Amino acid sequence: MPAVEVKKLTKRFVSGGGSVVDAVKNLNFSVNEGELFTLLGPSGCGKTTTLRALAGFEDITEGQIKLFGDVVSTSDLNVPPERRGIGFVFQSYAVWPHMTARENILYALKNQDYPKDRREDRVQEALSLVGLAGGNVEDRYPSELSGGQQQRVAFARAISYEPKLLLMDEPLSNLDFQLRKRMRQSILDILDEIKVTTVYVTHDQEEAFEISDDICVMKDGVKMQQGDPEALYDSPNSPFVANFIGEANVFNAELVSKTKKSANATITKGDQKLDMVCRHEGKSDLKNPVIVIRPERIHIEVASKAGKGSKYNKTSETNEYAGKITHKIFRGASVYYDVTIGDNTTVQVRSTQSKLKVGQNLKVTIAKQDALIVQGAS
Ligand SMILES: Nc1ncnc2c1ncn2[C@@H]1O[C@H](COP(=O)(O)OP(=O)(O)O)[C@@H](O)[C@H]1O
Ligand SMILES: [Mg+2]
Repeated sequence: MPAVEVKKLTKRFVSGGGSVVDAVKNLNFSVNEGELFTLLGPSGCGKTTTLRALAGFEDITEGQIKLFGDVVSTSDLNVPPERRGIGFVFQSYAVWPHMTARENILYALKNQDYPKDRREDRVQEALSLVGLAGGNVEDRYPSELSGGQQQRVAFARAISYEPKLLLMDEPLSNLDFQLRKRMRQSILDILDEIKVTTVYVTHDQEEAFEISDDICVMKDGVKMQQGDPEALYDSPNSPFVANFIGEANVFNAELVSKTKKSANATITKGDQKLDMVCRHEGKSDLKNPVIVIRPERIHIEVASKAGKGSKYNKTSETNEYAGKITHKIFRGASVYYDVTIGDNTTVQVRSTQSKLKVGQNLKVTIAKQDALIVQGAS
């Protein structure tokens, strides 16, 4: 039995002025017990709305939510948050300003009917879990704590009463970069220790990749793709996911032929054409096909004399082209080269070779495996 089952969830907001927004549309996903599941997508795509529906803060328009086998939300049922066994961490921390850190946690324990004789000990355990034990943080008011400390208090409060499900809405987005990186690791360590099923919301792909077992990518209230970080990176199913997750060269193409695992396609620009053999994941019929190539998967080497200006081999497994560097950006650990292949197709290449120069002739190799062809906008 999954810990969370969301089926055909739709949430429609009708504002006072009568305007209608479908913040979440027909969303399906499930989360296994102990898993860290992430809703990832740009601002406004419906992440917070979904999380609030899971918590019981929003009633839902259509569909169903089950937590640990029990139906908790339908269009005419909304089990209140305090009866769902959830902990919630908000983006804004939302610690109560008129209570000390200790009182914040104690109040939550009381609210959740945590055994009375265990509450004081549990406050200390929770503070210690989030690294705030000692140093008299517990007796300070939120205004006397840094942002990072407030977020730790909010986290301690959410896990103090041992919820079955933890919901976290962009908990790190108000922290500075260094702190964010450290907190990610803390969150992972703590979740590893308490092993609570977690649904995590972020718009930050790197954060999602670092912490998640499974990721649901959303756009405009709709699930675009779900998978583990590697699957999403290696096999995005759309130009949107390819661009949102990491960097990608994206080309509109014309399909020449396809089998279950490969396709031949032509990148067309004006009257210039460039043929490419591509990896095809098989399910899509490739209407309006788009070729997606990660910049670091394009192999470049200085053109040999023999190869200079001539056509290279194209096999059923690799594409080889003559290329020329037209632009270079140095970024320390890697260098980005714009390389023109064919007559006027420019690919961005990320390389560790830093010494190549604009104007340099290259041999450019793109394995079939690394030229993924997907369905574009229908
Ligand atoms: N209470 C509300 N009333 C009307 N529209 C809302 C409300 N809450 C969210 N929305 C709209 O629903 C969409 C999704 O919002 P939200 O779930 O907050 O997105 P995210 O968390 O991904 O940024 C947005 O268009 C937003 O303006
Ligand atoms: Mg949000």
